[in-house]
Amino acid sequence: MIMDGNGRWAKRRHLPRAVGHQRGVESVRRLVRAVRGMGLECLTLYAFSSENWKRPQDEISDLMGLLRRFIKGDLPEFIANGVRLKIIGDYKALEPDIVHMLDDAIERTRNGSVTLVVALNYGAQQEIARAAQLAAQEGPVTVESISRHLDTADLPQLDLLIRTSGEVRLSNFLLWQAAYAEMYFTDVLWPDFTPGHLDEALAAFAGRERRFGGR
Ligand code: IPE
Ligand code: IPE
Ligand code: MG
Repeated sequence: MIMDGNGRWAKRRHLPRAVGHQRGVESVRRLVRAVRGMGLECLTLYAFSSENWKRPQDEISDLMGLLRRFIKGDLPEFIANGVRLKIIGDYKALEPDIVHMLDDAIERTRNGSVTLVVALNYGAQQEIARAAQLAAQEGPVTVESISRHLDTADLPQLDLLIRTSGEVRLSNFLLWQAAYAEMYFTDVLWPDFTPGHLDEALAAFAGRERRFGGR
């Protein structure tokens, strides 16, 4: 999920962007509660890109504050509901208290059966460069050796990539993994996105014919 449109949602209501981000977290919460019932194995959320550091410092602080509150507040529910937390991206570069909180949450949810992946300080080009560097240290660089060093190495194949808010671009999200993913773009702004909208995306996905280059 490329969760986009928080700012525009707030702007339309003459509210501060921070309120849009708060409501965006509510969308995440609704969705995480619903995924188990939908039979999904893994849900990956693009929460903060490596390019989002270009935003004003006060917005970055708001987002990091929301992240802290989300992890702290929702961890008991993750544990109770069998949600395993995984982070992709260079999250170790975030503030030390957040890194500690995330590592603790990852450890305490490790037995969960549904995986919630949160992409933090994530950029696909950076991820591929890091993986290629590690692969090169081991020998010939191949598609498999790069894949093995990606942050997503232990995750299932990316089947469906959804972006909200009407933007039709990937913004440096899962570029490698999206090689044969189905794409779904909706005009719904992220704070308005409900499990019903995810159902619609899954129904569209079910109607797609995937060929993977074959015939
Ligand atoms: C998505 O909403 C949240 C993040 C990128 C963190 P935006 O903040 O990008 O909202 P718009 O695109 O300005 O509407
Ligand atoms: C992509 O949204 C990043 C996240 C959803 C975290 P952006 O709003 O940052 O993307 P651009 O700048 O419109 O491409
Ligand atoms: Mg945006």
